[in-house]
Amino acid sequence: MSHINKLLDMNGCATAPAKVILFGEHSVVHGTPAIAVALNLRSRAHVQVEKSDSPQLTVKSPVMGLEISFSSERLNALGRSALDTNPTPLDPIALAFCHVLRSTKTKGLRATLTIDSEIPIGAGLGSSASVATSSVGAFLSALNGEIDSLQVREIAFKSEELTHGKPSGIDNTVIALGGLVYFIKGQAPERKELSAEIPLVIANTQIPRSTATLVSNVAALFKRKPKAIQYLFDSISDIVEQGLQALLKNDLEDLGELMDINHGILHALGVSHPLLDRYVWIAREGGALGAKLTGAGGGGCMIALAEDAQHADEIKQDLIKAGADAFTSVLTNKGVETC
Ligand code: PMV
Repeated sequence: MSHINKLLDMNGCATAPAKVILFGEHSVVHGTPAIAVALNLRSRAHVQVEKSDSPQLTVKSPVMGLEISFSSERLNALGRSALDTNPTPLDPIALAFCHVLRSTKTKGLRATLTIDSEIPIGAGLGSSASVATSSVGAFLSALNGEIDSLQVREIAFKSEELTHGKPSGIDNTVIALGGLVYFIKGQAPERKELSAEIPLVIANTQIPRSTATLVSNVAALFKRKPKAIQYLFDSISDIVEQGLQALLKNDLEDLGELMDINHGILHALGVSHPLLDRYVWIAREGGALGAKLTGAGGGGCMIALAEDAQHADEIKQDLIKAGADAFTSVLTNKGVETC
């Protein structure tokens, strides 16, 4: 059925969260479980649509200083995966638009989409997946007047494939659905509801890193020292299972202790960085219940767990005094939502 004739609203707006890996990064590549959670730093997309003979899209990203218009021809080529010349950073959003049109059986539509985000780019917090998710949500809310987060998740995955090649699907899942996702490579992610909004402090080292290089360094270490590293992976596996129970029970002390142990193991795997370790210790000394690097490491972000919002703010101030780019947020059950 075409939805173009029953447009309820010529505008659509959606927001989506960021994500952090709470437990299990790196070992997840070798088959152990991991837990990712939605973080309430949000991207926001607003779209205006009108009927048109053929699809056209303009994407504006004031944060990236970009405004790009996609003609029907360019959209067709993108939709057929035939566009290999002059890729732009906004191609994943245009591809999402193609998939929204396809999935809603809509033919002609001219759309202007504006995206905005408070999520740092390239810091392992899922900025690209969040922007793709809120954009898909905005398109679908303009067409249908409502959004189905499972449909958003599926379409946002197409954008993630264009951005990352072969993503695991954990980012778009936790960002579209909110809450926590328990993930084992090659298996369907399991989504669970958090029992409370949990306060986190995040410090971005702003040190660029390559996830691919760090993953291959760990693989090489595993090859050189298989027995020792297998013990570390097994230990992380146990942390993930205990971490899941602690999260579901909202046992913050247990959660913090497990974060500290996971950080120690990631350090042993060689993926920390002196600045990450420094931020971890500043957070702990400032009263954090636990702190660790999140994601690939080698730079990127440190996350610290606080017992409440006031303590989170104090830890953030300590980090800022030490020169860190630090901010607070909460873990949240809110995934993609209309606005
Ligand atoms: O840097 P991030 O947040 O995208 O996390 C990478 C996580 C790894 O486990 C290191 C790699 C992976 O593919 O799971």
